[in-house]
Amino acid sequence: MTRAEIEAKVDKLATQVRRDYLDRNPVLICVLKGSFVFTADLVRRLDFPLEIEFVQLSSYGKGTESSGKIKVEKYLRYPIEGRDVLVTEDIVDTGITIAFLLDYLRREKPASLKLCALVDKPSRRQVQVAIDYLGFTVPDKFLVGYGLDCDENFRYLPDICVLEEQP
Ligand code: IMP
Ligand code: MG
Repeated sequence: MTRAEIEAKVDKLATQVRRDYLDRNPVLICVLKGSFVFTADLVRRLDFPLEIEFVQLSSYGKGTESSGKIKVEKYLRYPIEGRDVLVTEDIVDTGITIAFLLDYLRREKPASLKLCALVDKPSRRQVQVAIDYLGFTVPDKFLVGYGLDCDENFRYLPDICVLEEQP
């Protein structure tokens, strides 16, 4: 996806989010690290009151495979009970990470909890995840750029590119 295609898609997502969350003072939860570029671009297209929180998760696994064991590295600093919460994620792959986070957040009793994901790779799904706002659906290729990394490299690239040679 080129930067122009990403821009157009983020515009579209922002329009949908604005329509649904205007006057609700939502909490957007950015899932670090991959989602920081996407979330930053999304919130700059929103022109109503909202709060931004960050969580960071890590999964123990080999290489690009998720093991299913997730560790919460960084968590919310403020309660989200009774709030309208929108999680912003870079990519949903097996779904294990985001399903874990959504279950975790649900225990905090938010008024509502929805997911906005820039990229979906449905062919690799192991856990069912409902994506309420979705940018792109892609085949099973490893992607880098626009926040997405391979071993912490390539996050700075403005386009989303297929990594041809996996390490
Ligand atoms: P899941 O638990 O398998 O859904 O993994 C989700 C996480 O793995 C995402 O939040 C990304 O951080 C990372 N991930 C999955 N696919 C890719 C990819 O193609 N490129 C970069 N990171 C990815
Ligand atoms: Mg991520």
